[in-house]
Amino acid sequence: MILLRRVAVLWIVLAAALGAIEREPLEAYRQRREALAARHSDGVVLLFAFTEREGQFTRSPFRQENNFYYLSGWNEPGAVICLLGEDKASPPLEILFLPGRDPGHEAWTGRRLGAEDPDAAAITGFKEVRPLEDLAKVVSAALKDRRRVYTLKPRETPGYEQPPEPDRSARLEELAPGHPKVDIRESVEAMRSLKAASEVRLIRKATEASMAAHLAAWTKMDSGIYEYQIAAAMLAVTMDHGCLRAAYTPIIGSGMNATVLHYSQSTRQLKPGELVVMDFGGEYGHYATDITRTVPVDGRFTARQREIYEIVLGAQQAALDAIKPGMTLGGHSKKSLTEIVRDYFNSHGSDQDGKPLGAYFIHGLGHHVGLEVHDPGDSGAPLEPGMVVTIEPGLYLPKENIGVRIEDMVLITEDGAEVLSKGLPKDPGEIERLMKTRSVEPRATVGAQ
Ligand code: GLY
Ligand code: MN
Ligand code: MN
Repeated sequence: MILLRRVAVLWIVLAAALGAIEREPLEAYRQRREALAARHSDGVVLLFAFTEREGQFTRSPFRQENNFYYLSGWNEPGAVICLLGEDKASPPLEILFLPGRDPGHEAWTGRRLGAEDPDAAAITGFKEVRPLEDLAKVVSAALKDRRRVYTLKPRETPGYEQPPEPDRSARLEELAPGHPKVDIRESVEAMRSLKAASEVRLIRKATEASMAAHLAAWTKMDSGIYEYQIAAAMLAVTMDHGCLRAAYTPIIGSGMNATVLHYSQSTRQLKPGELVVMDFGGEYGHYATDITRTVPVDGRFTARQREIYEIVLGAQQAALDAIKPGMTLGGHSKKSLTEIVRDYFNSHGSDQDGKPLGAYFIHGLGHHVGLEVHDPGDSGAPLEPGMVVTIEPGLYLPKENIGVRIEDMVLITEDGAEVLSKGLPKDPGEIERLMKTRSVEPRATVGAQ
């Protein structure tokens, strides 16, 4: 009881200093470490947290390296994880190494947890927490009867929208001179692609917050306002719902900008008669969501806008009707959802010259979502229960000033799928009805620089 109270008090102090990010139960992280160590029990697993500099950018607070976070839920800089799977010679071992506390630095950053804090193990969920200065000694002892060092190496082709991945080879060589360093990215990413119920819970919260943000944006929509004002309204709502940041740079594209896939300037003033693509998702407890809706600035689609919109919606529905375990996001087989969508576009409507619309679907149909908005996951591999992906067909017709994308978050289940963002309307009639009741706010008097 006393121990529990002490843990609670220290946790409150730390939570106040660190900001209370909702995490999964500590047991979830521990089970992942155990599984990873068991899979690589012929060696030592060594994983490095971001340093303060790597995980902190002038415009946002420290955010942990995703794989390190996935295995620890630990959002402080400078830590190292060492795992040993059980083998003939030794029982399993897991140690979190924490950097020494620095009161001068803490005056700027707030209180940090140190290995010497008596409740460090209870707070972090690690069996053992030791000071970073012990790391070399522990690794060298572990390598007496194990050869390999399993670690995460920087990916050869940088992942799209992934945070920077530092090269630790010099530090590893110092810790384990001459030992083979083996990349475990494939193992960790395979684990990450199958979401635990506790991860889906956080993704649902990000999604709920972001759906509310989209609805709020529609109530603000009017010609004369600027794209950044839409982004501001959306960010405010997600933060009000507990998101600490947007999961990616908001894409608020009006008119011609609606045809630019990752337009992110948000500096243009909305004009009457245009469409606005709003691709926006908040991040909750480090988990992303990714939702796009396209609405008319004045609350009414023109006939041509509605025609294109309905084709995109129909294509998305065709993919959602077909999505289930065994299907693939990409590829060219009969199981490919992309092929279903492209066939739909090619058999519905055409451009001004009578050309089929498939040529105007110029990006992937979807991707995995998790700690990163573009989470690890192979778009050519069969979908499995527990995966969370987007389904986001779009058509972009710059000559007609029309861009439409509709993007939803989908959880693959045992026998099909659940659309996590189904609460956000996308039927064009319903969008028009909802937008009719919007109360338009006073217009901006100051434009973008
Ligand atoms: N938000 C970027 C994307 O839809 O992939
Ligand atoms: Mn997406
Ligand atoms: Mn998106």
